[in-house]
Amino acid sequence: MSHLTAKSRPMSTTSKTLTFDTSTSRANPTPSPMKRLTVPRIRQQKGGEPLVMLTAYTVRMAQLLDPHCDMLLVGDSLGQVIYGLPHTVAVTMEMMAAHGAAVVRGSYHAAVIIDMPFGSYESSPELAFKNAAHLLKETGAAAVKMEGGKVLAPTIEFLTKRGIPVMAHVGLTPQAINILGGYGVRGKSEEEAASIVEDAAAVADAGAFAMVIEGVLEPIAIEITAKVACPTIGIGASALCDGQVLVTEDMLGLFERTPKFVKKFGNMAVGVEAAVKQYADEVRRRSFPGLEQIYRSTAE
Ligand code: KIV
Repeated sequence: MSHLTAKSRPMSTTSKTLTFDTSTSRANPTPSPMKRLTVPRIRQQKGGEPLVMLTAYTVRMAQLLDPHCDMLLVGDSLGQVIYGLPHTVAVTMEMMAAHGAAVVRGSYHAAVIIDMPFGSYESSPELAFKNAAHLLKETGAAAVKMEGGKVLAPTIEFLTKRGIPVMAHVGLTPQAINILGGYGVRGKSEEEAASIVEDAAAVADAGAFAMVIEGVLEPIAIEITAKVACPTIGIGASALCDGQVLVTEDMLGLFERTPKFVKKFGNMAVGVEAAVKQYADEVRRRSFPGLEQIYRSTAE
């Protein structure tokens, strides 16, 4: 992105060409109709066309994903993806607020859902409400997501009844890494499988408008999807969930490691490496900047 002048250049989407104003990072003109998908509409999609969700943490990525997604998730996975943290436990409210606001600024169509970071919601419904309200006010996101099952049901009910839509997250809950000891698939024993199904039923009954089901044996995801009234969004779960989510950088192939549940739909690491290598070569050969990139007269 050029920082020298505020020019417009085409931003292509599958359906139309928008112009992208580099001085404001807004698409210009604003795509019309600028109507975001609402939480009630997402809820209504239960059992219909699968819901498409991807993570987004930055304005440009949000712009690229927005035309194709129903929901953009500002996941606390940004701890690892953006900040190089070992897990999500250290992610702060400030990080979530800054990236959430960027994603809302870069999107027009998708509903933006923002993760509540570890420590911001577990101890009481009142604390959860205060922090969730802060995130919605700071970012303009439509809803929050929080990890947990039965124990969180009173909090989900408290927030929902006070105007804050909640997406739940059951199965593998990465914020509990220090209890779990790893990110292995959940529900291998009958007891654990039954407990995950109970968690899902409890958060759905409490008013969650949707739930992520992460890292469980497939029959568990299928059973939950059949049982609960709200849409289920799978990651490492089942194609029969009501929708799917992936970490965008995983599916774009930015990382070497590909967990079993990720499909690489692109190979961004290879593209970035090739471009950077060519740039470095051209700088070292003094062939960049070339004539086209240089201001040679006062008229330019
Ligand atoms: O933080 C995150 O990105 C998530 C998704 C993987 C569901 O919670």
